[in-house]
Amino acid sequence: MNPEQWTAVDRYITDALVPADPVLEAALQASTAAGLPAINVSPPQGKFLHLLARIHGAKTILEIGTLGGYSTLWLARALPAGGKVITLELDPKHADVARANFVRAGLAGLVELRVGKALDTLPQLAAEKCGPFDLIFIDADKVSIPEYFTWALKLSRRGTVIIVDNVVRKGAVADANTTDPSVQGVRRLNAMFAKEARVSATTLQTVGSKGYDGFTLAVVIG
Ligand code: SAH
Ligand code: DHB
Ligand code: MG
Repeated sequence: MNPEQWTAVDRYITDALVPADPVLEAALQASTAAGLPAINVSPPQGKFLHLLARIHGAKTILEIGTLGGYSTLWLARALPAGGKVITLELDPKHADVARANFVRAGLAGLVELRVGKALDTLPQLAAEKCGPFDLIFIDADKVSIPEYFTWALKLSRRGTVIIVDNVVRKGAVADANTTDPSVQGVRRLNAMFAKEARVSATTLQTVGSKGYDGFTLAVVIG
C-alpha cells in the first residue's frame, strides 16, 4: 500500500492524458472555495466516465449525487446534440456551487439539477415519465445504494449502463462482518446482483489520488 505513489501516478496520468481544462479546473476551485468536501471523482476517473458515455453514445444521463458538478461536467461533455443530464443533489449549498459551475462551463442548458433527497426525487422522475436513461451514475450516500439501484433499474431500458462509485472502500467490502452502514450498502447491492437476472455486473478495484476504492459497472441485459 503506497498512497503517495498512487497519487503521483494519478498526477502523471492526468498530465499525460487529461488535457489542462480551465473550465473543469475552475469548477474544482469554486468547490474548494465554497468549502465543499474534495470527494469528487479524480480527473482520470472523470475522463473514464466521459469515455464510457461516449462509447455508449449516451444521450440521456442520470446522476445521483452532484456535489459541485465536477463529474456532471465530464458526463455532460460526452453528450451528443440534444442530449441531457439530470443530476440529483440533497444539499442546497452544493447545488448552488454546481449550478454556477454549469453556467461557467456553458453547459447549463444541458443539465437539469434537482435539489432534494434522491429517494424523493427518483419517484418523481418516474411519475413524470423521465427516462429511460442511457447511462446512470450512482454517487450519493452509500447507505442507500441498493435503493438507488432499484430506482435506476425502474428508469432503465435494455442496454442501460449503470455505474456505482465507492464500492470497495479500502477493501472493507470483502468483510462479511462489517458494521459500517456504507459498506453494508455496497454488500446489499452485490446481494441484489446475485438474484437479478436482468443485470450483468462487474467491479473494478481502483487506486489513485482518492486512495483505494472501486467502480461497479452494470448493464441491463433483460
Ligand atoms: N458525483 C460528484 C461527487 C458526489 S459526492 C463528483 O464526482 O463530482 C456525494 C454527493 O451526494 C454530496 O454532494 C451529497 O450532498 C450528496 N447526497 C448525499 N445524500 C444524498 C441524498 N440522500 N440525495 C441526494 N444527494 C445526496
Ligand atoms: C467519499 C468519496 C466519494 O467518492 C464519495 O462519493 C463520497 C465519499 C469519501 O472518500 O469519503
Ligand atoms: Mg464517489
